[in-house]
Amino acid sequence: MDAGLLDKLTESLRKVEWRVDLKKYQINGEKWEIKHIRKLFFFLIIVWFLIYIPPLNVAIGGTTKLEVHADIQPKVLEPGDAATLTVTVKEIGDDDAINVVVTPIVTGHSNIVISPNSAPVSKIPEGGEKTFEFKIVVPNNEQSGSKSIKIKVEYTDPGVFSDKRNSMTEYVSFTVRRPTNYYNTSPSSDISFILITILAIGIIAGVGLYLKRNGNKDKKQSKSYEQEGSPSKAKDIFPSKLAEFYTDVEYIGKGGFARVFKAKRKKDGKVVAVKIPISLDPATGKSFLREIENWTKLRHPNIVRVYDYNILPIPFFEMEYCESSLEKLSKPMDVRDAALLIFNAAEGLKYAHSKDIIHRDLKPSNILIKNGIPKISDWGLSKVVTESRSTTTTSFTPLYAAPEQLSKAKFGRTDERTDIWQLGVIFYELVTGKPPFESDDYYELMAMILNDEPTPPSQLNPDAKEVEPIIMRMLAKRKEDRYESVAELQGDLATYLGIELRNELKKSRTVGDRRKIIYYLGNLLLLSMKTGSLSGAYKYANDFTKMTSGELKAQFEELRDGIKLRMEEGLEIPVELIEKAEILVHEAMIGG
Ligand SMILES: Nc1ncnc2c1ncn2[C@@H]1O[C@H](COP(=O)(O)OP(=O)(O)OP(=O)(O)O)[C@@H](O)[C@H]1O
Ligand SMILES: [Mg+2]
Repeated sequence: MDAGLLDKLTESLRKVEWRVDLKKYQINGEKWEIKHIRKLFFFLIIVWFLIYIPPLNVAIGGTTKLEVHADIQPKVLEPGDAATLTVTVKEIGDDDAINVVVTPIVTGHSNIVISPNSAPVSKIPEGGEKTFEFKIVVPNNEQSGSKSIKIKVEYTDPGVFSDKRNSMTEYVSFTVRRPTNYYNTSPSSDISFILITILAIGIIAGVGLYLKRNGNKDKKQSKSYEQEGSPSKAKDIFPSKLAEFYTDVEYIGKGGFARVFKAKRKKDGKVVAVKIPISLDPATGKSFLREIENWTKLRHPNIVRVYDYNILPIPFFEMEYCESSLEKLSKPMDVRDAALLIFNAAEGLKYAHSKDIIHRDLKPSNILIKNGIPKISDWGLSKVVTESRSTTTTSFTPLYAAPEQLSKAKFGRTDERTDIWQLGVIFYELVTGKPPFESDDYYELMAMILNDEPTPPSQLNPDAKEVEPIIMRMLAKRKEDRYESVAELQGDLATYLGIELRNELKKSRTVGDRRKIIYYLGNLLLLSMKTGSLSGAYKYANDFTKMTSGELKAQFEELRDGIKLRMEEGLEIPVELIEKAEILVHEAMIGG
């Protein structure tokens, strides 16, 4: 045997030995499995418990608890409007930190667009919170009704078990309503409505022609060459620096210190009113900014909303567009309609007074009307106006000024009751067709306000007999003799309106006129809620549950139960519930 063959044999023998060893090892391995398989199985079960059984999970990784709050502003939108959805996620558990993803989803059949689709992943520390903002745009073809958005909040624990996903949901709703005029005239049959419309157009055309021929003899303000609602004039006078933000600009009018335009916002197509000061000196400019800041704090259905303001590229502010104003209504008007307008304007005043903000410049052109709802405008701008008018005092009229605004020495300082006086002058004018004190001479007018008693309204309009004591008390020279507060005034207005509306409701029920029944029932429900008459509110909300069906009925039932709960607990009705009732009543009126 040669040496090479011997080497090969030795090598083969080693391999055999090695295979035998490996076999041994495998045999040992099997033994190991048999010994330890049960332990491994138990270990896996324990791990599973730690992850999925909450108390154990807490013990190891802490627990995540979230509080999610969602809000939409504004809550009532028209097609073409945009709103902001704010979602605040707060960690109230005892976990270290969590990663959160917020996704809003429109429920039901809707074309509403929300952007962004979902907020990027955000880390929230233990006990911390984060706010996410989304923009909601209502397309022009969106149907009226209550819309619901589901807020999906997914969160993961980046700690021990980082791949564990949880989620929770929250809902927030808002209303889309198409503009209608349902409120500042009482409902009438369709034919008489058409006749009245034709008649109104005729009268407006006649008056327009008359004014054109005779010149506008308006003594409150001399209108210049600028024509209201005129796109061509608007093009000439709308500042070019703002033109890139707006289209379809129309000139509305001008007052003591500014011009107002109707315009469409380029970024989202929303129709707004843009107010631009005619000229501002540095002191007035400062005052303008300070006052407008006050106004932006006021959020109420009976107060015009300011959307935006800036001093660049030029000083301006953008607000809710309102199609009419008390100045534009024909007067004298139906006393009950006037009282309803005054009652609702007072609701806005009551809210502002609760925030220590007094208007001091109420007049028909400052109470605008949108969808029949009165909204007070120009908050705090009276100071700006006074300053900018200091050199041209003759153009100022004290037509709506209270005695204490003309003689502080005799009547003391202005306060909330100054607004009550001014609202009284407006109420007087709405029901009689003329203000209580009138004179072309500035000083004579001042003397009348300070010393004369106004002609009782019923002498000018017999229908005003029942509201006469209310108006006269609003116009008491001494503040102490007027209503103490807006709430007290509303109490008297509600008594008058309650009687009137209940009578009308009864008549409508006798003839079975559903449209009128809903109109009067709706006003009675809102009146009761706004004056804190819970039993009345409960009764009318209950009546609505019988007049409606489907989702609207369910919502009225919820409202009724909410009122009942507050009755039992002796609580007041919150503003949000009143707002909700307004929306439901509106939906019922437009045919829900
Ligand atoms: N948000 C708005 N929407 C629609 N029209 C408006 C709006 N704000 C004001 N207007 C209208 O524009 C016109 C000018 O308003 P402005 O407030 O400048 O003057 P004024 O109320 O007549 O006087 P003052 O300057 O004393 O307030 C008025 O006819 C007013 O009704
Ligand atoms: Mg004004």
